[in-house]
Amino acid sequence: MKVPESGMPEEAYWESLFDIPLILDRLKIDHSVEHVAELGCGYGTFTLPVARRIQGILFTFDIEPAMIAHTLSRAENEGVRNINAALRDVLATGFGLESGCCDAVLLFNILHFPKPEDLIRKAADVLRPAGRVLAIHWRSDIATPRGPPMHLRPKPSDAERWANAAGLTVTVMTELPPWHFGVALAK
Ligand SMILES: C[S@@+](CC[C@H](N)C(=O)[O-])C[C@H]1O[C@@H](n2cnc3c(N)ncnc32)[C@H](O)[C@@H]1O
Repeated sequence: MKVPESGMPEEAYWESLFDIPLILDRLKIDHSVEHVAELGCGYGTFTLPVARRIQGILFTFDIEPAMIAHTLSRAENEGVRNINAALRDVLATGFGLESGCCDAVLLFNILHFPKPEDLIRKAADVLRPAGRVLAIHWRSDIATPRGPPMHLRPKPSDAERWANAAGLTVTVMTELPPWHFGVALAK
């Protein structure tokens, strides 16, 4: 199932809405991280910057063939070689990766659908013992220039509840100016 309200505006505008280095710094995505899985590459907005920072492979998935093609073409043009992008409905079929293979799973701008505990459990399954589920989303306590309807957006307290239901704990809860918040969930 494609997450409702998960379309995006034009690429350059979308990418003007994030301070990507700040987000990656605050979520500690750096060279100490090996393999990463990502649900929803979209335009590759985070895929390419994350792939440049990590040591391993970035396994990214999207339900839209055009998004996979676009991200792979960007990676090719920019000489980023550690991205493995595949067409997949992750909500329906999970990540299709070996249990315990990743240091991080990225759930960026996607957790606005009912009952995401099952997805968070699937993400937790592919994590190494010290791995982290990293999620960001549009804040619902301030007006933002984009994002799904306010009533669909997860709040930090929702993320904590879902994490606990999936056997994870919140280790980082942070604002990601100008419009987002982020959480890191660990086993
Ligand atoms: C709002 S965009 C966010 C893209 C990227 N994570 C970002 O923050 O720039 C959500 C992306 O998830 C994809 N998507 C939605 N439902 C999906 C599903 N069930 N499985 C895989 N990808 C999905 C959409 O096609 C879209 O590219």
